Amino acid sequence: MRPARALIHLDALRHNYRLARELGGGKALAVIKADAYGHGAVRCAQALEDEADGFAVACIEEALELRAAGIRAPILLLEGFFAADELALIDVHDLWCVVQADWQIDAIEQSHPTHPFTIWLMLDSGMHRLGLATQDYRASLQRLQALPQVGKVVTATHFARADELDCLRTDEQLARFEQTATATSLPRSLSNSAALLGWPGVRSEWARPGLMLYGATPFPAPHPVADRLQPVMTVESQVIAVRDIAVGEPVGYGAHFVARRPTRVGVVAMGYADGYPQFAPNGTPVSIDGQPGELIGRVSMDMLTVDLTEHPAAGMGSRVELWGAQVPINTVAARAKRSAYDVLCGLKRVPRTYVDD
Ligand SMILES: Cc1ncc(COP(=O)(O)O)c(C=O)c1O
Repeated sequence: MRPARALIHLDALRHNYRLARELGGGKALAVIKADAYGHGAVRCAQALEDEADGFAVACIEEALELRAAGIRAPILLLEGFFAADELALIDVHDLWCVVQADWQIDAIEQSHPTHPFTIWLMLDSGMHRLGLATQDYRASLQRLQALPQVGKVVTATHFARADELDCLRTDEQLARFEQTATATSLPRSLSNSAALLGWPGVRSEWARPGLMLYGATPFPAPHPVADRLQPVMTVESQVIAVRDIAVGEPVGYGAHFVARRPTRVGVVAMGYADGYPQFAPNGTPVSIDGQPGELIGRVSMDMLTVDLTEHPAAGMGSRVELWGAQVPINTVAARAKRSAYDVLCGLKRVPRTYVDD
């Protein structure tokens, strides 16, 4: 059997969720869209179900997968519905729903649910992705609240630059939200991971942590609160071949590494088809039998190469961690000029093993 695998530490997931909830000071929907950022949405939801106030996913397909697995907690559709006929399923499966445009209110008005919908009305406070414009928000809210098809309403917005701790945009978005929505005295939902970790002045009744649940930081630099997160995913494999090469000899496609000293090369069963970043450069950290080591040469589809010269005891079968407790996902992503979001969501083919201590 190919030795590549991803270990998912469910205790760490719960620890990070509790931290998110503590920081937010209210309730928290665990954002488990995109298959829980590559960690497996059903297993993550099951691990959190006893303590999570609910879950958030991108779309109805993701919500139905959770319901089919027996998850009974509230589930919010972060992008709402894409077509009016989804409202029947939203009703049957008792899903909460973002409303981000007036056509969705028209559709709700035409619908015949068996019980009132719970709606999160999204304000575009400056990200300019989804949400009602500030000048339209109050009127849409009043219209929504007057509909018999609508029960509870939460006011919500999403920050575009909360990961930039010295950027004024988050304060500007917050001010627009407060001017537009806070006077309504309805519950509010503001914070993603970056706002929870880095903006203690931004608090609301409902937080929406995603990335931080998985133990990755949204910030480019170490941060005292983000440092309390525990990595959830460990991606590891083994050395499947070893060779010694002479000075001047290249390794791998394109000769991206050329030996400057006699070099012992370990070939590891892990490649970009598994989601390891193809363009991670020479020197990207790995851990070899628990010791710090380095990637050398271009990453192939199914294999990559590491420098074993300083690891005389390592050889065939040595354990190589690509990211996890010893090798921060943020470091690997940054070295490859990617984000932790992107690398985690890109995990493929590697079987996941769930560890619940
Ligand atoms: C509307 C919304 N809320 C919350 C989140 C979670 O964000 P993060 O993973 O940065 O915590 C996302 C993620 O993209 C989102 O789109």
